[in-house]
Amino acid sequence: MATEPQDGRLVELEGVRKSFGPHVVLDSIDLSIRRGEAVVVAGPSGSGKSTLLRCINGLEAIDAGDIRFEGQSIPKAGKGIYRLRAEMGMVFQSFNLFPHKTVLDNVTLGPIEVKGLSRLDAQTRARALLERVGIPEKADAVPADLSGGQQQRVAIARALAMEPKLMLFDEPTSALDPEMIREVLDVMRDLARDGMTMIVVTHEMGFAREVCDRLLFIDAGAIVEDAPPEEFFRGAKSERAREFVDKIIHH
Ligand SMILES: Nc1ncnc2c1ncn2[C@@H]1O[C@H](COP(=O)(O)OP(=O)(O)OP(=O)(O)O)[C@@H](O)[C@H]1O
Ligand SMILES: [Mg+2]
Repeated sequence: MATEPQDGRLVELEGVRKSFGPHVVLDSIDLSIRRGEAVVVAGPSGSGKSTLLRCINGLEAIDAGDIRFEGQSIPKAGKGIYRLRAEMGMVFQSFNLFPHKTVLDNVTLGPIEVKGLSRLDAQTRARALLERVGIPEKADAVPADLSGGQQQRVAIARALAMEPKLMLFDEPTSALDPEMIREVLDVMRDLARDGMTMIVVTHEMGFAREVCDRLLFIDAGAIVEDAPPEEFFRGAKSERAREFVDKIIHH
């Protein structure tokens, strides 16, 4: 039986450490995220943002500490890790769609192969998801015929098709042309408003301000700020975060 904390914490990290060789990438991270929260993670390149997401969904094993999902420690390996990963959707900067499969096949593959849905059920659900991300007419296209923004929305639909409890986004708009960024952020905003729990690594500070409950600022593997966006922008506590905000806003 999962022993989820009563206060609705979905993800908890306690003293999480991760090193690559001598290089400490995550240094005693403590963090808890409640169901329904949308959290933005920002910080300089190399500060550990992607590694944090990869540890949460079990793509990287941690060296010390504990990560719990619904009150249960994330298994180190084996079958448990696959079951857990199916509960979390991950969206990357580079959409990672199957290039030779249609949009519909990209979105139905997981539900059919992993969840055992019938092709028909999977397709019905996939079409509803394509509608939700605003590209119902692209079901039969292949990824190469879509814009970057459309491909990223397919990637989001594909993740949602697994009915995840948590969505992890790693710089989902940083490979996109400016005119496509908005359409992807709008889909993410709607998801957050519908109550999806999400952790979003992004430097889109307008999105953070408008959509997110909390903004985490990571520097050198440590969370140095954890505050509601308004508070963060009004006056970050650390010099490093203030410099960062300055740079981004006056970019
Ligand atoms: N598999 C790996 N092997 C060795 N070093 C790694 C590995 N993955 C990440 N690192 C190192 O860990 C540090 C943190 O990397 P990470 O990708 O988490 O940073 P990031 O904050 O996501 O950066 P960016 O903004 O550039 O994406 C970097 O110094 C990186 O070089
Ligand atoms: Mg990264």
